[in-house]
Amino acid sequence: MSILLDGIGELVTNSPAHGDGPLGRIRDAALVVDGGRVAWVGASGLAPAADERVEAGGRAAIPGFVDSHAHLVFAGDRATEFAARMSGQPYAAGGIRTTVAATRAASDGELRANLRRLAAEALATGTTTIECKSGYGLTVVDEARSVALAAEVTAEVTFLGAHVVPAEYAGDPDGYVDLVRTAMLDAAAPHARWIDVFCERGAFDADATRAILAAGIARGLVPRLHANQLGPGPGVQLAVEHGAASADHCTHLADVDVAALAGSGTVATLLPGAEFSTRSPYPDARRLIDAGVVVALATDCNPGSSYTTSMPFCIALAVRDMRMTPDEALWAATAGGARALRRDDIGHLAPGARADVVLLDAPSPIHLAYRPGVPLVAAVWKDGAPPTE
Ligand code: NIG
Ligand code: FE
Repeated sequence: MSILLDGIGELVTNSPAHGDGPLGRIRDAALVVDGGRVAWVGASGLAPAADERVEAGGRAAIPGFVDSHAHLVFAGDRATEFAARMSGQPYAAGGIRTTVAATRAASDGELRANLRRLAAEALATGTTTIECKSGYGLTVVDEARSVALAAEVTAEVTFLGAHVVPAEYAGDPDGYVDLVRTAMLDAAAPHARWIDVFCERGAFDADATRAILAAGIARGLVPRLHANQLGPGPGVQLAVEHGAASADHCTHLADVDVAALAGSGTVATLLPGAEFSTRSPYPDARRLIDAGVVVALATDCNPGSSYTTSMPFCIALAVRDMRMTPDEALWAATAGGARALRRDDIGHLAPGARADVVLLDAPSPIHLAYRPGVPLVAAVWKDGAPPTE
């Protein structure tokens, strides 16, 4: 059954062939959905007939957000750690171990309930595709169940056994790397599409990162990396060298890192929720964009460094504090995320794309940054299904 979504005040297609400018904007627009896909976009007056008509009432419509970086399989929270940080304590990678202990102690049902709660929260704020990492289990059994649970809510599952060296391997980090690249990977790979490593001082160094990525690639997984978050390091170079889909964080970059990203197929995924929540300097999006790097925005939703599922919040931070224009931030949160997940069926609304559409209670998507903290998402269409609320 086809549905005509008519009376859209401003439609962002992210398809320059279908509208004005890089965002492919169409004013007074309509969109036809059929079989879960976009069948037609254009000026309202030219819309073809459809089985059903839904009135947008002059609202803006945008592609659903693509959140290409989230850690949603965990138990407990770290509100006390956040409060301590806001009183002056620094953020350290080791805090991950607190969540590892809570996650190991949780039942499958508890983890599933928390994961589904967060996925639903993300959808309600307009995220129609979300990536989800393991990384709070760090045993063969707990990592395998983490990726299996993640696969229940998304196709974009990432194995992150190399999140931190767990306490029981503190005296034998090499032994942990061996476990990750053998038995843990064997157990997790069937449920995952991606392999990730937290390449950072206090987590995994260049040699460990290379060994783990090589093992993942050998099992058919595609790399993406946590790179250059807490300080300068080899992460971005390793991401580019391994043909990673994305280098994530990119907060502390040397000129050679920017140049390497610019000449590569690796997207720089910026995660401003982490800098907000750890009170750290934001990555310089302007420097990356001006150098020709493809930039994505994502939430990094996790209980330690960025406990938000809100892409509108990340857009507001990126515009206000990372020198991105509202158009650049919107593109990065939709088409950029799709690029970071190597997907061409999402992140835009050209005919043939998945009909993942967000209607905003605003005349223009500029309001996402202009009216921060205001719930502007009026309705979310996922795979062409009209909103259920
Ligand atoms: O992306 N950097 C590593 N992982 C998370 C933090 C996880 C945590 O603190 O629990 C991140 O920021
Ligand atoms: Fe992360």
